[in-house]
Amino acid sequence: MEHAKQEKMAESKGPIGWYVHLPFCRTKCGYCDFYSLPTLPHLIDDLIGAITREIELRDPLRAVETIFVGGGTPTELPGEALQHLLGYISARTGPVGEWTVEANPSSTTDLKLAVLQTAGVNRISFGAQSFHEDDLRVLERIHDPVHIGESVRAARSAGFENVNLDLIYGIPGQSVARWRETLARAIDLGAEHLSCYALMYEDGTALTRLKRDGKVAPCDEDIEAEMFDVTIETLRDADYQQYEISNFARDGRECRANIIYWENREYLGVGPSAVSVPQWRTAKEHSRRSQVLRMDGGLARVDRRGARNAFRTRAGGGDGGADAATDARNRFEGFRAANGV
Ligand SMILES: C[S@@+](CC[C@H](N)C(=O)[O-])C[C@H]1O[C@@H](n2cnc3c(N)ncnc32)[C@H](O)[C@@H]1O
Ligand code: SF4
Repeated sequence: MEHAKQEKMAESKGPIGWYVHLPFCRTKCGYCDFYSLPTLPHLIDDLIGAITREIELRDPLRAVETIFVGGGTPTELPGEALQHLLGYISARTGPVGEWTVEANPSSTTDLKLAVLQTAGVNRISFGAQSFHEDDLRVLERIHDPVHIGESVRAARSAGFENVNLDLIYGIPGQSVARWRETLARAIDLGAEHLSCYALMYEDGTALTRLKRDGKVAPCDEDIEAEMFDVTIETLRDADYQQYEISNFARDGRECRANIIYWENREYLGVGPSAVSVPQWRTAKEHSRRSQVLRMDGGLARVDRRGARNAFRTRAGGGDGGADAATDARNRFEGFRAANGV
C-alpha cells in the first residue's frame, strides 16, 4: 500500500497506545512474577535490536497518543542503550501526549533522567512500594526509603512534572499505621499519581513459597480491607481522585495509557512479554495473554482483592473472579463505577 494511503487510513482511525516491555531487573523481588531477567550486558544490544526490529515490522502506522515503557525496570538499561531505544521510538512516533517510563528508585541517575527528557518522556513511574525499611526488606527491594525522595527530587530537577509512585499494602508485618505513614510520605513528595496495590501471592514466587512454608505470615484480610479503606479516605482528603480500583490521580493526571486499555481501545505491545489488542496479537502473545493481564501501570494490574473491595463498597456485589476474562471485566466495571459510566 502506498504511503499516502496508509497515512489517510491512519488518520481516520484515531490514535492508539504503545506498550514497550523491557525485561531487565538488577535482582528479582520476592513477590514479583513479571517476566524479568538479570541485566546481562551481552543481552542488551540483542534486546534493543529485537525490539526496534519488532516495532519496524509491526507498527500499524497510526497516530500514537500514549507510550508506556514498562518492565522489568527500563531504567536498568545503560544510558547509551536507553538513548538509542527511546530515540528510535520517538523518531517513529513523533511527539506524544503522554509518554511514561517505569523506574526503580535506585536505578535512576541524572544522566538517565536527562536521556528520558531529551527523548520526550514526560511521565515517570517509580516502584516505591513502601517508605518503611522493614516492608522493603520483606519485599526484597534493593532500594531504601531515602532513595524514593532522592529519585523524585532528581526527576523534578530534570523537568518531570508528572510522577507516579507504585505502592503496596498488605505486606507481612505492615500495620495500618505504617501504611498511613507510607501514604503520607507519598503525598508529601507531591506525586501526581499513586498506584496502590494489595500484595498478591503469585504462583512460583519466593514470597509465596515462604508463606506456604510458614516462614512468612500474610497480612490479616480484615486489616488489608481496612488499609484499602484508609487509602481511599486519605487520598481523597489529599485531593486525589480514585479513577480506578488501585489508581489515584490529581486533577487531569489520570494515566492515559491505562485508560486506553480499560476502555478497550487499541494498543500495540512490543517486547518479550507484551500483548496487543486481539487484532494485532501474534500467536505468542495469545498464549501469554493471561500473564500480561497482570501487568500494571500501563496495561493492567488485576487486583482481585481490590476489585472485590471496590465492588463491595461502590458497586454493590461481584467477585474478583478466577479467570483472566472475569478479571478484565471486573477491572473495566471498576473503572466504570469510578467514572459513573
Ligand atoms: C514492573 S514493576 C515497576 C517498576 C520497577 N520494576 C520496580 O519494581 O520498581 C510494576 C509494579 O507492579 C507491582 N507489583 C508487582 N508484583 C506485585 C504483587 N505480587 N503484588 C502487588 N503488586 C505487585 C509493584 O508495585 C511494581 O511497582
Ligand atoms: S517488582 Fe519491579 S524490580 Fe522487582 S522484580 Fe518485579 S519488575 Fe523487577
